[in-house]
Parts: sequence; C-alpha cells; structure tokens
Amino acid sequence: MTKPRLWITRRLSDATLERAARDYDVAVNHEDTPGSAAELIAASAEFDAIIPCHSEHFTAEAVAQFSDRLKIVANHSVGVDHCDLPALKGRGIAVTNTPDVLSDATAELAMLLMLGAARHAVAGDRIVRTGAWDSWSPAFMVGKQVTGARLGIIGMGRVGRAFAAKARGFGMDVHYFNRTELPDAQAEGATYHQSVESLLKVADFLSLHCPATPETANLMNADRFALLPAGAVVVNTARGALVDEEALLNAITSGHIAAAGLDCFQVEPSGNPAFAAHENIFMLPHIGSATRETRDAMGFRALDNLDAFFAGRTPRDLL
Ligand code: DGY
Repeated sequence: MTKPRLWITRRLSDATLERAARDYDVAVNHEDTPGSAAELIAASAEFDAIIPCHSEHFTAEAVAQFSDRLKIVANHSVGVDHCDLPALKGRGIAVTNTPDVLSDATAELAMLLMLGAARHAVAGDRIVRTGAWDSWSPAFMVGKQVTGARLGIIGMGRVGRAFAAKARGFGMDVHYFNRTELPDAQAEGATYHQSVESLLKVADFLSLHCPATPETANLMNADRFALLPAGAVVVNTARGALVDEEALLNAITSGHIAAAGLDCFQVEPSGNPAFAAHENIFMLPHIGSATRETRDAMGFRALDNLDAFFAGRTPRDLL
C-alpha cells in the first residue's frame, strides 16, 4: 500500500522525524525556515498531509488557492490562531492540534517568568554578569513575594490548571476567570470570577492562559491594566495578541505594573524592541513548550492524529 505523502514544515524532534519516516512518505524542511504562503500552496498539490507549526500561516487567501490533494493539517501546536479554521474546513481539510502534552512545560515557563519578573532576574543577572555588583544592602533589589499572594488566571484550560497546580505548591491563593465555572474537582479550591474585571481587582499576579481569538485580541488593554492592584506582576505565555503592548508599556512606565514576564509578543519572531529598555520586563522567545520531553510528545500527538485520520478513524484532536 502506498504511504500518504506528508510534509513537515520545520525540524521536529528526532524521534518524531524517525516515526514519521517509518510510517509516511515524508519530506522535511531541514532548513527549518517558516513555510511561506507560496510554499503551503505548492505543498497542497504534492502532499496528502502537512504537519505545520504556529509559524506557518494558513490564511483564507492561501487556503483558497490550495489543491484538492491536501486532506489534513495536523498541527504540531495546541494554538491554532495561525489557521483560518473556517477556510480550511470549507475546503474539506481536517485540522487537528496537540492539547494536553505541553501543559506542564508551558506552566513551568510561566512559573519561571513570574518568579523572574517578581525578583528582578534581568537586572540581577546583568549586574553579576557584567561585574557591576559592587555593594549589598537590605534595600537592594527587593522584589515581590509570591507565597501567600493572590494569583489571577485568565483561561482555566489545561495549561491554566497546570499553572494553578504549580502555584498552589508556592502557597498562592488562586483565582480565575473562565468562560464557564469549573467543577470542584478541577477548580481545586480556586475562586471563580464571573468577569475578567472582577478577577483583575484581586490579581497581585496575573497569568494569561486563553487562546488568541478575535474576541480575546488586546484582552489586556489600558482600562484592564488599571484595574490590577498597584504593583501587580503580569505574565503571558499564551499569545502576544492578548496584550495591548503600548498599554502594558505605559503601565510599566508609570509603575502601576511592577513587572512583566513575557514569552509571547504581538510580533514574532523579534518581539517588541520598546520593551528592551525595561529590565523589569523579563522576556523569553516563545519557548513555553520547548523541552525535549514535550517536543517529542507534541510530534507524537500530531502523528497519532494523522495515523487515525489515514486509518479512517476520527482523530482524537479533530477541531
Ligand atoms: C503552541 O503549541 O501553541 C505553542 O505556543 C507552540 O507553538
């Protein structure tokens, strides 16, 4: 039986590529550059399936030019804001993602960003690294303690709940906003807020864990930053589109927000150069899911979805 033809747009983990090569007639973009619209359109005529990352943009305009050959887009990511889902579905192309498997890795990174932002990680590292550390006093680099503080989580899906579990280990008082209130077994004592506004008023620390959709674009705007308690710390490991970056910059500059920890930006790659002047913004380059274990798990989950699809079953993560 001929194997389905599969295009893998980026250099995925070795274990993923080995398994893909075993089961599919696979082509891999070993140059590891983001696939352009033209490349996606060309690939749709040559391949039955694509495993893309969030760096490939399936816009309605590109999808309209796809060949009928392409049957499935099995994303390597959980986020699918790079895919115009109605356009893909309209062409009869199945779309899957990779929920669950990256929740812990992303929650770990959110913890790193929260602690690093709260405790002056950027300035502290610079001072030691450059030899500028020439004094110490009790007033030196005093930060904000997470133990006992109130943590507000927007989006209590899998990643939000994984982060809440880790924050509980740090003795934080967890509050959340979600479209629906969680059952007690999932909330694990976290306090539900019916509106984002109500949550923000109690969030000494705020962490974003909701998807980027037209409804959540610039979710954190100037009015909402103003609702946070003075000296709050903001963390974003979800998507840059959730934050109005100019409003965040203003809130940081005024001192209303003490610090921010960001793994996601409106423009990626590159980030926001205006943030670089502020050492109380601790930044990482969209690496929330970047652990060896999770990269394998993401690749395998995408392949599980492909395997199910080509075996005539409904993929577990069909959107
Ligand atoms: C995801 O899976 O959405 C991560 O952000 C990596 O793409």
